[in-house]
Amino acid sequence: MRYGEGLLEEIRRRTDLVALVGRRVKLVRKGRVMWGCCPFHAEKSPSFKVENERRLYKCFGCGKGGDAFKWLIETEGLSFPESVEKLAAEVGVELPKWSPEDEEREQKKKSLYDVVELAAKFYEAQLFEPAGREARDYLKGRGLDGAAAKQFRLGYSPGGNNALINHLTAQNVTQDDIIAAGLARAAEDGRPMRDFFYNRLMFPIGDGRGRIVAFGARALEADAKPKYINTGETSLFSKGSQLYNFATARAAAIKAGTIIVAEGYMDVIALARAGFTHSVAPLGTAMTEDQLHLLWRTAPEPILAFDGDAAGLKAAHRAAHLALPHLKAGYSLRFVFLPNGEDPDSFIAHNGAGAMAVQLETALPLSQLLWRAETEGKDLSTPERRAGLEHYLKEIVDRITDGKVADYYRRGFDQLVFENFKKRSSAPGPARGAPRTAFRPGVGGGKFRGDFKPRPLPGSPEAVSSSVQSSALVRSGQAGVRAAKEAELGRLLVESPEIALAEAELLAVLDLQDPSLDRLRHELLNLAASGSSLEKAGVQAHFTRKGMAELLARFAGSAVDDPLASFQRAVADLRELAGHPIDARRLLERRRALSDRPNDGRGNI
Ligand code: UTP
Ligand code: MN
Repeated sequence: MRYGEGLLEEIRRRTDLVALVGRRVKLVRKGRVMWGCCPFHAEKSPSFKVENERRLYKCFGCGKGGDAFKWLIETEGLSFPESVEKLAAEVGVELPKWSPEDEEREQKKKSLYDVVELAAKFYEAQLFEPAGREARDYLKGRGLDGAAAKQFRLGYSPGGNNALINHLTAQNVTQDDIIAAGLARAAEDGRPMRDFFYNRLMFPIGDGRGRIVAFGARALEADAKPKYINTGETSLFSKGSQLYNFATARAAAIKAGTIIVAEGYMDVIALARAGFTHSVAPLGTAMTEDQLHLLWRTAPEPILAFDGDAAGLKAAHRAAHLALPHLKAGYSLRFVFLPNGEDPDSFIAHNGAGAMAVQLETALPLSQLLWRAETEGKDLSTPERRAGLEHYLKEIVDRITDGKVADYYRRGFDQLVFENFKKRSSAPGPARGAPRTAFRPGVGGGKFRGDFKPRPLPGSPEAVSSSVQSSALVRSGQAGVRAAKEAELGRLLVESPEIALAEAELLAVLDLQDPSLDRLRHELLNLAASGSSLEKAGVQAHFTRKGMAELLARFAGSAVDDPLASFQRAVADLRELAGHPIDARRLLERRRALSDRPNDGRGNI
């Protein structure tokens, strides 16, 4: 721990916790204690208290509580040291240096920040000098104007003559510092020290506080290799534990309830220009565990956007497997694959921000990505291969260390395997005893009885024809019936969210066409998985907090007498429509089992 308890106590003592919390929550005094409605869960009567005397806040509804540091961590997404620094500055406590070496290191770092900032200013200015003309034209060619350049502090590193070294030396920056900041290559083999970046478009990279610590630099020629170079590791910059645009995106992400991870700098800029200011990118490497944890501090389900080509798919699988051991209740990932090998930058340029919003809205949950990766386009026609599939699915579940999450995955996969291979029904597909044709999930529709198939993965034959199929469906009358059924389902879930707890399994494998309904389904499952109570008011407030109030309004309706039975009927109807009828006897058994269960106080169904 960097800071001693005495010092932390001093900061707590000086902090007016009531005022700090009061910036976000309306508090009313009752005796010595202030009360308000808890900002972490939804409620109508206040069970959230704040006490200056004990320097603590606590909610008796959801159990969240802590001190002033915890408050900033929970509400602003700061790390612990950041929360200490912020409060210390507010209340005028000077943070000590630990040892003379630490102090020296801090001092050095401080001067390095200044050096990198000087470099950023120099590159920025060069972009608008005559020398920067080619870079300006390049930016224009990519649809970025001066305002965009200023917003992201883009710059230009002039070519060949050690312009930056000369500029910094003239300002009394030492050669050691220039090298330590990663801005020059040291002299070697008789060659003098020289600028690291030249004749490139410069993208300044900020740390969590927005201080520039490094640069990404793009060649201006179309076929230059390498296309991008980046600052190497320095005492300010570690490419595996920082993210491009993080300081800006963090605040936006907390507001938006999610954060978008693109692959490149240009993608982040295009996304932000299109209104998705909650966008970041890794820094020239694939996403790391450190970056994943950074992301999860800002939003529970970051959306990773990939090119829809083989490389994008591979990168997505890599990220998915990276996340498995770290999954915990409520925290996951979602995936977007853009069509035609586009990246967010080109996709937005060709299709607009609205189309991008649709892509984000319908992002694929992690569980679905994993299932499809194991099944799609694979021939699973023999018992041995299906056993192999179950083995791989088990391996995935085994990598999840959180017991509860692992359990949900296990049950979800079991259900899918059952639906696809083991269920005996007279539904479409080969008759019992008939020779089985090769099973290729996701291809040919009718043979794939699983419900985890909202969208085809890019590159699959289905992907090519899916837009055609869905528009044909919209034209047919059946689509209307289906939409009405889905809307009914939405109303039931909004009015009686407890259904999601009682019928999590059924809900987990439901194939919904309406993306917002799918989102509702997904959020409710998340809540159920995290052990939340799912009473209506709480759920509504949760959705509102996550910026999904519109979704609620869309499905609002009136309460019905037996929501669970209505839900099951609607699901059965939907499945009938989709050509995979549900076994009525099984449903009845489930209903009996559920009504025999002692009431656990979580709801009246
Ligand atoms: P991409 O090759 O996908 O490029 O690299 P891009 O972002 O679409 O770039 P534009 O649109 O051609 O300008 C994605 C990211 O990978 C890193 C960079 O961080 C880049 O933004 N990268 C790429 C490198 O570090 N070096 C390279 O040579 C290429
Ligand atoms: Mn690009």
